[in-house]
Amino acid sequence: MLTIRCVQPQDVFSVIKIAYEALPERYDPRIFNSFYESFPQGFLIAEKHHKIIGFLVGIKTHDTRAKILMLSVNNNHRKQGIGSALITKFLQEMVLQNIKQVDLEVRTNNKIAITFYKKHGFDIIETIARFYQNGEDAYSMRRILRPN
Ligand SMILES: CC(C)(COP(=O)(O)OP(=O)(O)OC[C@H]1O[C@@H](n2cnc3c(N)ncnc32)[C@H](O)[C@@H]1OP(=O)(O)O)[C@@H](O)C(=O)NCCC(=O)NCCS
Repeated sequence: MLTIRCVQPQDVFSVIKIAYEALPERYDPRIFNSFYESFPQGFLIAEKHHKIIGFLVGIKTHDTRAKILMLSVNNNHRKQGIGSALITKFLQEMVLQNIKQVDLEVRTNNKIAITFYKKHGFDIIETIARFYQNGEDAYSMRRILRPN
């Protein structure tokens, strides 16, 4: 059975492992604890048979705005609706937190993630040239949860 829940401190090691396997950026492991401490409602994990198989990190950037910083599902669990379950729960939680707008950046060549985010109601707002450390461009994407 799939469970989506807020991260707990003891989950952070598994999250770091998935992040290293799936995401090109290299993060200081301490940053995951700071995400948890600053906005635990935005840090969700997907768990199946007591194993963590995906996670989403979102932060609050303003009273009524949030940003998704990371989303990843274990390679051998993709295309099974787990990413969708994570983002759906995240967006529901953001409505409860009175968030009106959720932003994110995604590599312009990450077609799978762009398709995924569009399916979940995000629109491309602009292209940010050389956004990533290796010089790749990003799309800024946004979903409005509640108009002003
Ligand atoms: C993006 C990601 C999180 C999607 O997770 P997932 O659990 O595989 O996604 P879902 O099964 O919920 O898919 C939902 C929709 O996304 C799109 N999608 C997902 N994988 C896709 C693929 N391989 N090819 C095309 N579309 C895809 C489809 O529209 C899909 O809907 P469908 O199943 O009705 O066709 C996952 O591919 C991943 O971890 N990628 C590596 C990390 C990454 O790029 N993160 C995002 C940038 S930070």
